[in-house]
Amino acid sequence: MHPDYWHARWNEGRTGFNQPDGNPLLQRHWAALDLPAGSQVFVPLAGKSPDLLWLAARGHRVLAVELSPLAIAEFFAGTGTEPSVTRSRYGTHHRAGDIEMICGDVFDLDRQALSDCTAFYDRAALIALPPPLRQRYVNEVYAALPRACRGLLVSLEYPPQEMEGPPFAVDEAEIRKLYESDWSVETLERQDILANQPAFQAQGLTTMNNVAYALQRS
Ligand SMILES: C[S@@+](CC[C@H](N)C(=O)[O-])C[C@H]1O[C@@H](n2cnc3c(N)ncnc32)[C@H](O)[C@@H]1O
Repeated sequence: MHPDYWHARWNEGRTGFNQPDGNPLLQRHWAALDLPAGSQVFVPLAGKSPDLLWLAARGHRVLAVELSPLAIAEFFAGTGTEPSVTRSRYGTHHRAGDIEMICGDVFDLDRQALSDCTAFYDRAALIALPPPLRQRYVNEVYAALPRACRGLLVSLEYPPQEMEGPPFAVDEAEIRKLYESDWSVETLERQDILANQPAFQAQGLTTMNNVAYALQRS
């Protein structure tokens, strides 16, 4: 999607994707990755997710990237902290405690930006990207992560003919096609979420699943 699409959504408060209590699949499956404390976790297309706080509370350093300055302002306002702000070629860096959020385009990040990220947590990034951008996202952004990096990917499945995205449906077959040349992919849990999604029911969706995958770079 064009950045203007996301800026408009943040300006208009159309941020139903945000989960104020954090993501249950993250909370259930993160420990199984068995990451050393202090590992830096890359969180792409982060929004104002409370998952950043959850990861930091587990002893991780967090490096997030998000297009919207409003999302970043709302995130730090919610924590009651005032981040320090610096600029680099990647964007504007906001740092408070163990959390750093870059206000910028994920496609501008390179190996140097991600060199310390031995882990990632990716929820609802692929499903925010239209099909041609997904392959580019994996080819460019994931390829910039260090060898042996591992992490948790949370995606969304529904019959794609029933709704136009975003959020786009990105099913297991597509995840495997996108990643399996460079990453091992293990499906951890498929959670039926339609009952708690009245807006998507109203749009005519008949099934909707959140799916968590563990990925390890080979
Ligand atoms: C569906 S939301 C997911 C937010 C977050 N991961 C969560 O779980 O709440 C997608 C987010 O990605 C941001 N975004 C979209 N394209 C981006 C890009 N190219 N670079 C950085 N952020 C982007 C949007 O502003 C939006 O906040």
